[in-house]
Amino acid sequence: MTTPVQSPVQLDAVRKTYGSGPSAVEALGGVSITFPAGSFTAVMGPSGSGKSTLLHCAAGLDTPTSGRVTLVGTDLAGKDETALTELRRQHVAFVFQSFNLMPALTVEQNVNLPTLLAGREPDQAWVNQVINRVGLTERVHHRPAELSGGQQQRVAIARALATRPSVVFADEPTGALDTNTALEVLTLMRELVSAGQTIVMVTHDPVAASFADSVLFLVDGQIVNQLNSPGVEQVAATLAHLGEQAKAKRARGQR
Ligand SMILES: Nc1ncnc2c1ncn2[C@@H]1O[C@H](COP(=O)(O)OP(=O)(O)OP(=O)(O)O)[C@@H](O)[C@H]1O
Ligand SMILES: [Mg+2]
Repeated sequence: MTTPVQSPVQLDAVRKTYGSGPSAVEALGGVSITFPAGSFTAVMGPSGSGKSTLLHCAAGLDTPTSGRVTLVGTDLAGKDETALTELRRQHVAFVFQSFNLMPALTVEQNVNLPTLLAGREPDQAWVNQVINRVGLTERVHHRPAELSGGQQQRVAIARALATRPSVVFADEPTGALDTNTALEVLTLMRELVSAGQTIVMVTHDPVAASFADSVLFLVDGQIVNQLNSPGVEQVAATLAHLGEQAKAKRARGQR
């Protein structure tokens, strides 16, 4: 579905500190990770552990305090906002927990919006293919309010794919969905990866994470563990273990 590159996103010792002085918060404490083309990675960790910050830095939406982010072979350091916007438009797309669809627009118009905003003409054959891919061909002229939550998230995924991104970043894409609808969306994401798409997904749900090829665990801005093709129980057990560790650390008076 995308032009193959070996690793669309690479982070080297990425550190991100918000604020300065005594109120400074270190959201990422030197993260190094490569997301290979055609891979599905889940990112897990407690609230505030830096998951969203990792996605934002990886996508060039946020600038690291230090370290290097390489997006489809381009080092983001020193790029101005115009260059970053252009790179993002060409190579990355986001899916959020809230679907962020435009209520007044139809499914098809929502899917076409990022292309139009980029000043390009939608490729109708590709748009049809993408809408078909997410199973919404019968619904192209419907508006978001006429769709179920799962269908709305599938529109958001189709919109993400419309610009043929190298990588799709998803921040809790199933967070607002019931179990069955979430499974439907995860199955779709799994199929997209099988077709060559690269996906990085933040999730709190061990079931969602078990759909990924690899699961990263973040604690206090550091990758503390990585599991490959884990089962639900293994993910849940790892999370529980990290929770215990964090509790013990707090009891010792550390952060
Ligand atoms: N714009 C910002 N300004 C100041 N601090 C921020 C900002 N964005 C994030 N932080 C802080 O950085 C840390 C990491 O935040 P981040 O949003 O990455 O966490 P998260 O793992 O995505 O959490 P959640 O699971 O709650 O979404 C937190 O302590 C947060 O308060
Ligand atoms: Mg977050």
